[in-house]
Amino acid sequence: LHVPKHIEHFSKFSPSPLSMKQFLDFGSINACEKTSFVFLRQELPVRLSNIMKEINLLPDRLLTTPSVQMVQSWYIQSLMEILDFLDKNPDDYKVLGEFVDALVTIRNRHNDVVPTMAQGIIEYKEAFAQDLVTNQNIQYFLDRFYLSRISIRMLINQHTLIFDGSANPVHPNTIGSIDPHCQVGDVVQDAFHSAKMLCDQYYLRSPDLILQEMNKKKNLPVSMVYVPSHLYHMLFELFKNAMRATIETHENSNNLPPIQVMVSLGGEDMSIKVSDKGGGVPFRRIENLFSYMYSTAPAPQIGEYTRPPLAGFGYGLPISRLYAKYFQGDLQLYSMEGHGTDAVIYLKALSTDSIERLPVYNTTALKNYKVSQEADDWCIPSKEPLDLRNYKVAK
Ligand SMILES: Nc1ncnc2c1ncn2[C@@H]1O[C@H](COP(=O)(O)OP(=O)(O)OP(=O)(O)O)[C@@H](O)[C@H]1O
Ligand SMILES: [Mg+2]
Repeated sequence: LHVPKHIEHFSKFSPSPLSMKQFLDFGSINACEKTSFVFLRQELPVRLSNIMKEINLLPDRLLTTPSVQMVQSWYIQSLMEILDFLDKNPDDYKVLGEFVDALVTIRNRHNDVVPTMAQGIIEYKEAFAQDLVTNQNIQYFLDRFYLSRISIRMLINQHTLIFDGSANPVHPNTIGSIDPHCQVGDVVQDAFHSAKMLCDQYYLRSPDLILQEMNKKKNLPVSMVYVPSHLYHMLFELFKNAMRATIETHENSNNLPPIQVMVSLGGEDMSIKVSDKGGGVPFRRIENLFSYMYSTAPAPQIGEYTRPPLAGFGYGLPISRLYAKYFQGDLQLYSMEGHGTDAVIYLKALSTDSIERLPVYNTTALKNYKVSQEADDWCIPSKEPLDLRNYKVAK
């Protein structure tokens, strides 16, 4: 088995981030399947190997859980299947067809990576006491691991959608999964509608939507080059959260305050603010909402349905933030406990600024896993009031 040798080799290359423009070029009229194939059979092993090196840096007790072992075996299998194409002839159309099939197989194999990893975290949490350093490492790793996964799936989706031989009849104006004229307001409406249906099903009521748009340049609905499915994912998660908070804080009221959305297009940013009056979150807890370790709740079990469908693993926010970051954006929460929460998605308005943000395995990354627990450089506030009568000067 030469897998470790291959991982070693390909992890020495840095992944090549693509810009929105490059993604569009791969899918334009003079799109060349051969060029895309030659690029991917190198780039996919590079991205896979870079992140596989980091999987190996996980704490042993997490790495050896059956779930993480399974995920790791999928990565190895997929890497080998792509390496099979390294010595194949790009001018042979049969090879190109086999490559599309291989990519589809790989995409399906990795469908359940997120819940499987989450299961590994649960197994780890149940078996071992957690410490701050391990928690930080796992957070650092999972952000990079899931971002890497988003990027790999993006590459696979673009190639398979563009070169599957048939035109894309469902979305004739998209290039793979990219919509050059993505109507942001429409995606807001779609995501809101889906969340509203779930909410009605479970709570038998749901708040309404008030949508406003600001377009600095023209008096037109906001439009941008983007991946609508990514935008939909983020908004759907934010709406589920906003609805749940709204309903649970207004349980005894006949009126539900609406969820307000502002879509704003500027020269640099395209921002979307989702505001609810759902009681908010204490400032101290905000960071934890993005933590994989703190929020990993067991998945709802079939049969013993305890958690509402508007809440799952607790990965809604952290994964949504990764989608935003993937094309150089971000997602932030501003909350006022007692009142409500504003969640803001920041995206790049210009497609020239939308470039993949990718983790790279190097000495800096390695160093981040090696941080040791040192004493804090801020005093720990004492719970007991200091009794000055007994105060003795000592250190
Ligand atoms: N708008 C909000 N108002 C109040 N609390 C919120 C809001 N958004 C998120 N939260 C809190 O943050 C937690 C984490 O949110 P997140 O979406 O990441 O996970 P979840 O909703 O619990 O589960 P999942 O989204 O995976 O189904 C929520 O459980 C909730 O307590
Ligand atoms: Mg959620």
